[in-house]
Amino acid sequence: MKKITRFISGIEEKMAFDHISRSPEDTMNLGRIVAGKILPGDILAFSGDLGAGKTCLIQGICRGLDVPEHIYITSPSFVILNRYEGRLPIYHFDFYRLSCQDEILDLGYEEYFFGEGVSLIEWAERAEGILPEAYLKIRIKSLSPSDRSIEFIAYGEGYMERFCSGSYDLSIKTKSTTKGG
Ligand SMILES: Nc1ncnc2c1ncn2[C@@H]1O[C@H](COP(=O)(O)OP(=O)(O)OP(=O)(O)O)[C@@H](O)[C@H]1O
Ligand SMILES: [Mg+2]
Repeated sequence: MKKITRFISGIEEKMAFDHISRSPEDTMNLGRIVAGKILPGDILAFSGDLGAGKTCLIQGICRGLDVPEHIYITSPSFVILNRYEGRLPIYHFDFYRLSCQDEILDLGYEEYFFGEGVSLIEWAERAEGILPEAYLKIRIKSLSPSDRSIEFIAYGEGYMERFCSGSYDLSIKTKSTTKGG
């Protein structure tokens, strides 16, 4: 784990989590651990190339938030937003096909972002202008067909303490070998 604080455009950016996932199961397990830390109103903004593992991580988060196994969790390709009910309402956005930010404005995103549910946003970098000051960015990079670097970057108040400290043992529910922490 590394801890870096820097200021970009006056906004404090704190990075304190950097892990290697060796398999989709590792990534799902990370999601389950993240779910245990989530509070109402949280915003998690995912970035990473096509096939990086954003949806995979979100699947783990949703299962960890008690979305039943029979509910299929997939990128909301044509509708921008999928909603699931777990222990909190979950708003799963995917901005990949966004033609302009007005589409999000039309969706009435404030109702979701500033409500009691959790917003999980794929391709959030396509709509950074609408993100509030405080949110958790999760950046996923492919290192090989099976290895992923997963970084948590806390913006504003509230996320650093919860998500960027403590131990993340991705091997808890699988036999996969992991390293990092
Ligand atoms: N360590 C890993 N973590 C996550 N996914 C992995 C890993 N290793 C291999 N994969 C594979 O990578 C793919 C990740 O797909 P996923 O749909 O989660 O990506 P995505 O980032 O949501 O892409 P998109 O931008 O198209 O929505 C899956 O096919 C998964 O099996
Ligand atoms: Mg996806």
